Amino acid sequence: MTLNISVIGTGYLGATHAACMAELGFDVIGVDVDPEKIDALSRGELPFHEPGLPELIRKHVDSGRLRFTTDMAEVGAWGDVHFIAVGTPQQQGGTGADLTFVDAATTSLARAITKDGALIVGKSTVPVGTAARLYDLVQAEKNPDLTVSLAWNPEFLREGFAVEDTLRPDRLVVGTRKPEDEATLREVYAEALERETPWISTDFETAELVKVAANAFLATKISFINAFSEVTETVGGDITTLADAIGFDTRIGRKFLNAGVGFGGGCLPKDIRALQTRVSELGLDHTMRFLDEMDQINLRRRERVVSLAEQILGDLNGKKVAVLGITFKPLSDDVRDSPGLDVAARLFNSGADVAVYDPEGNANAAKRFPRLGYADSLTSAATDADLVVLTTEWNEFKQLTPQALEGLVARRQFIDARNVLSAREWEQAGWTFAQLGRHFSQPQSSAASA
Ligand code: UDX
Repeated sequence: MTLNISVIGTGYLGATHAACMAELGFDVIGVDVDPEKIDALSRGELPFHEPGLPELIRKHVDSGRLRFTTDMAEVGAWGDVHFIAVGTPQQQGGTGADLTFVDAATTSLARAITKDGALIVGKSTVPVGTAARLYDLVQAEKNPDLTVSLAWNPEFLREGFAVEDTLRPDRLVVGTRKPEDEATLREVYAEALERETPWISTDFETAELVKVAANAFLATKISFINAFSEVTETVGGDITTLADAIGFDTRIGRKFLNAGVGFGGGCLPKDIRALQTRVSELGLDHTMRFLDEMDQINLRRRERVVSLAEQILGDLNGKKVAVLGITFKPLSDDVRDSPGLDVAARLFNSGADVAVYDPEGNANAAKRFPRLGYADSLTSAATDADLVVLTTEWNEFKQLTPQALEGLVARRQFIDARNVLSAREWEQAGWTFAQLGRHFSQPQSSAASA
């Protein structure tokens, strides 16, 4: 008999996990407190952009293997394995993780479960110690005649590659207290195990920490190279060549050494802050203090882009600036903690007339920052611009040539804040062209009109 799977929370993580579990052959129910979201998902519509996911959801809504509900009682009566996939955002006015949704979902699920032997599996990113606390919470809230257990199984998916990462994870980490719970999860992930996907069986604390350690390491890698950008900007040198050269050392590796305007999104920034907050609560005030430095280095990159704009334009007041890319990274419409949106807002607050264009992110950005100008194409954003700033490396922008903007902009001035274009090509075409982590001296001819 196959396991009935439920997924609590149908946001980014939950919707992906539910669709992928259906793709693996399970009968799946996704539950959420938001009826509009449930209605949309039931029609196979996604409230966010993720390549391949709407198709997968429609496929399995149609196949009958995937359905959505707001009724926790239905879920509690039906599911054998319940994945908790609700958000753990940064606390309002604080740096720790807000566990309101995880606690509420776990409590209402534990109360709703009527099936003996059900397993609750936490997937959300949580501060260490949460799983142990939730285990006790479940024992206190469940029907005393039933056995209900809890396991922790962190998720490492990347936005833009969520389906691929969920169907073919590079490792599976499961924190359990009972061997039978691990056996249940082996059944859920049988297909990945057949492919010899590394299976890390551990305790709750390690499972929770693996997730935050991975994100802290990735954030550190990006800020490490961006710290060297501050050096090469001062003494000369080329950050991309430096990254290539150290990246050839396989102990270091080239991935996540792309210098630029830094990291953003719904995970890395809040996870490093929550980790630091959690270890401080544990009395380890100094242990993760370096993460505060990583955060500061990251935020200074945004200031650097604004100061380059000031260096190029002088007073920003009334200057027209085109900002290309407003999502925190390509292949996403997510603008949470987006470096591009932050830079656009800072330029606007300094008096610039900002026109933003992003292939997917305009609508979400406009909800957060309605006063910016939003253009429906690259060319419309760049028309009459005194400066063009590339902040997210969408393919459309990586392929941009000086010729494409010729005759369009008011001045040939460009900041490539992701270091993805060829400085030589743009300079040869007569542009003032700045990147991050590369020495930049403004040519005399920079004020020439295009
Ligand atoms: C991240 C983790 O990669 C993923 O494993 C975890 O589950 C969730 O958090 P995601 O937020 O989708 O995933 O984005 P990621 O691809 O890690 O990029 C994060 C940010 O770092 C982006 O803003 C990106 O532009 C930036 N970045 C990445 C760099 O600035 N330089 C790099 O070399 C790599």
